[in-house]
Amino acid sequence: MNHRLLTLALSLGLLWILGCGDDEQEEASQPAPPDFYWGTATAAHQVEGFNTQNDWYLWEMIPGKIDNGDLSGAAVDHYRRFDEDFALAQQMGHNAYRFSIEWSRIEPTRDSYDPMAIAHYHEVLASLKRHGLTPFVTLHHFTNPLWILNPLRPDTDLDGWRSQDTVEEFVEFCADMAVEFGRQVDFWITINEPMVVVNGTYFQGGYPSDLEPFHLEEGRLAAFNLFKAHAAAFHRIHALDTWDADGDGKPALVSSAKHMRIMKPKNENSPWDVEGFRQVDYVFNQVFFDVLHDGMVDADLDGDYDSPDTDPPEGFYPELAHTLDYIAVNYYSRDVVTGLPFIPYVKGIPEDNPDPAVEHNEMGWEIYPQGFCEVLKRLGEYGLPVIVTENGIPDADDDQRPRFLVEHLDFMFEAMKAGVDVKGYLHWSLMDNFEWAEGFWPRFGLLAVDYDTLARTKRPSADLYSEIIQAGRITEEVRSRVGATAR
Ligand code: GAL
Repeated sequence: MNHRLLTLALSLGLLWILGCGDDEQEEASQPAPPDFYWGTATAAHQVEGFNTQNDWYLWEMIPGKIDNGDLSGAAVDHYRRFDEDFALAQQMGHNAYRFSIEWSRIEPTRDSYDPMAIAHYHEVLASLKRHGLTPFVTLHHFTNPLWILNPLRPDTDLDGWRSQDTVEEFVEFCADMAVEFGRQVDFWITINEPMVVVNGTYFQGGYPSDLEPFHLEEGRLAAFNLFKAHAAAFHRIHALDTWDADGDGKPALVSSAKHMRIMKPKNENSPWDVEGFRQVDYVFNQVFFDVLHDGMVDADLDGDYDSPDTDPPEGFYPELAHTLDYIAVNYYSRDVVTGLPFIPYVKGIPEDNPDPAVEHNEMGWEIYPQGFCEVLKRLGEYGLPVIVTENGIPDADDDQRPRFLVEHLDFMFEAMKAGVDVKGYLHWSLMDNFEWAEGFWPRFGLLAVDYDTLARTKRPSADLYSEIIQAGRITEEVRSRVGATAR
């Protein structure tokens, strides 16, 4: 059996033995440990406003790229309102906050840093501390400085993540951030969702790119460059951030946020769909861990390590292995996969489940809380601590979010009861924000934002989340109040 099939058989086998949602529902979930991280997550470009030096800012100007022609513009003005936003998070009982440092603000032109931007993030970190919020700092959340990737003038940049120069520049940036902010930061996330970046930039499209979609060879190269960049940054951050900000004896804990999706074949009886499902699950969900946990590179993504002459060469790379101190997982939904048997590297295409019988969110994604437990148990096999760095739902009128929140947390607690060492849950998002290619219409916030006045107002789920944080568990009363049924 080749490696890909073995991995899949193992993960499915263990899931089958452990199950999710099979055991009898208890009165209340087990309690979260007292030092559990409860909070929210954001990303610079989605909330700050006027990030004019990155690839998304120009991309948004191209007609047809963003729903309704939206431009991120002032976003939700978090660059100026961060202190008030953190005060609200504190009032809501949160003790953690994930945000990203915008590379293009710090380094708007190659090798020249903006001291004002550096001073700004020092203020952000000081404000988080004042408000009792532990920072989780992302160093790359989808955006690239224009000198790395310029979707309008490709000949003037570094070719984005296809080039080795980008890897080196990013690692230098991470090293400098570790020195600059290490006194205030222990939890680092180098790159948010490398496989989503690759998919959006080179496979399915939708993200800034100087190429049309389905440049599979470029995407494959970019994926391994992103992994290399993470691993090199991991080692540099550990060497340089020797300050223990929270006094737990660990000055730096470094990860890369992994978006995990539950997959299933569109038609269980179609061998093409089944093969497509296996391949997409392997490429999207598994390769990241094979590289960054096991150090194993399958450069042509064919499920084994014996192909000669690949770039990079296949096999074991000690410098890539064990470069995740904790698993940072983002979980939203489940996909169906249609087989594309004759395409290299990726033999299936995932789509949000179009089955009308299943409940969907406003963006059409299937709501599948049980998958959260399945994902956490699959990741639990690595024996590392896990932090949920994103989980949420677009829901303007907040009629689905209360149940979404309760059911997902119930399933998270079930995974914890089964032994998965989940240390925190960061909901996406603190407030409504610029949802990339969809623009402003999806509303992911616990806080609703009025885009005319930029005023923040709590949605009912914000109070529900506070109540859950306070109780540290899901009770039967809360379940029945929101109509939770999934467990
Ligand atoms: C994630 C991404 C976030 C946010 C979220 C909701 O993949 O990291 O930036 O957009 O999806 O769609």
